[in-house]
Amino acid sequence: MKIAVIGTGYVGLVSGTCFAELGHHVTCIDTDKNKIEALKKGRIPIYEPDLEALVIQHAKNKRLSFTTQLKEGLQGAEIVFIAVGTPTNPKDGSADLSWIFQAARDIAPLIQKGAVVVTKSTVPVGTASRIRAVIYKTRKKKDVYVASNPEFLREGCAVLDFLQPDRVIIGVSSAKAEQKLRQLYLPITGRGIPLICTNTQTSELTKYAANGFLATKIAFINEMADICEKAKADVEVLAQGMGLDPRIGRTYLKPGPGFGGSCFPKDTRALQYIAENYGAKNHLIPAVIESNEERKFTMAKKIIAALGGNIKGKTIGILGLTFKANTDDMRESASLVIVPYLLKAGAVLKLFDPEGMDQAKSILKTGKDAQWCEDMDEALQKVDAAVILTEWQMFSTIDWRKMKKKMKQPIVVDMRNLFDRAMMAKQGITYHSVGREVATALLAPSK
Ligand code: UDX
Repeated sequence: MKIAVIGTGYVGLVSGTCFAELGHHVTCIDTDKNKIEALKKGRIPIYEPDLEALVIQHAKNKRLSFTTQLKEGLQGAEIVFIAVGTPTNPKDGSADLSWIFQAARDIAPLIQKGAVVVTKSTVPVGTASRIRAVIYKTRKKKDVYVASNPEFLREGCAVLDFLQPDRVIIGVSSAKAEQKLRQLYLPITGRGIPLICTNTQTSELTKYAANGFLATKIAFINEMADICEKAKADVEVLAQGMGLDPRIGRTYLKPGPGFGGSCFPKDTRALQYIAENYGAKNHLIPAVIESNEERKFTMAKKIIAALGGNIKGKTIGILGLTFKANTDDMRESASLVIVPYLLKAGAVLKLFDPEGMDQAKSILKTGKDAQWCEDMDEALQKVDAAVILTEWQMFSTIDWRKMKKKMKQPIVVDMRNLFDRAMMAKQGITYHSVGREVATALLAPSK
């Protein structure tokens, strides 16, 4: 099928590229000239495993092209995806839909009769109907369709999530649109992956419900971790004990410094707004938001406590700045709260992230007390403690017996529980993790 994707941000670029991988002909459209020029040369603006290779491959075989010209890009498109940003509106926490409606107005006069316009962006319940009204008003006729098709892509494994999803959800209000979208996803559903077809409202809300629920699971396990620490219990074993019950499930029960990223924080806020807007009583989501925001500060205080309660003049190596591993994305990362907090408390920080340094430098406001390091070794030279904020694979293989020789003090604060406590103690490290007792360095020689 011939399809167009409006917006080459994270969602648009992954979706467009993966539709090409499924065999469709895709044009990705964006107003950002520099981005489009870079994409034409096979350079992608984000760090996402496997994506660049697919972009290059399908640009070469002419199934994937990039343009800034809307008219050219929409020519012959049977399906047009809107994948522009829906950031949080700082005034009230709602999703800001101005780019969505701008896109709807722009494409309305140019799309072909019978085309299906589909929202891929996460949009509040009721948005498809509003887009429909905008397009019909502009076209002055009702000869196209509007549908919803939320994505469930995780950064860092978005290509895999797209090509091998657990389910595909489409929201439609006409049989014609349903038929087109079923045809589009046939390469996936043909492999037995379920497609749920519903109305646009249910489809739109399902995305928020899924993200809201996953965020709730994380906030829950983080609060359990706090209880575990006080009660000398082990949150990792607890999560396993809970998660092996298939009604609960093992995933999204990993305690950490608080969830971040481009979705959970934004979507929980938007869900709260949606509930309020519809006058539906909602206790859980506001509590999850508050719990998560507070957690980032609590974790900063935990680091200070691990260093004896005063970090003035102390040097701390920070490993990992992105909101999770395998991405360069810094959006709503716990580091954005923890790093300034530690600096304000008087610490000198040595910062390192394997992929997120450029993004971090552009977002984190640091002064003379923050040093940007080339590598992990530099970040841990002569530090009073090492703090792991992101679960990058390279951190989980650190040889602490060797590494501690470079450090001033063998203290590790690990917000991702990457290590076995006993093993760390054996290596001579005083190991603070999340939801587990502190493991104190054994006095035995570390040779
Ligand atoms: C999420 C959803 O998973 C995806 O379906 C949706 O489309 C977009 O939002 P993403 O933001 O890429 O994806 O990351 P995800 O892997 O879900 O993690 C989000 C945050 O939760 C990260 O900060 C991560 O560190 C944290 N997290 C996740 C935990 O703290 N514990 C967990 O068990 C899982």
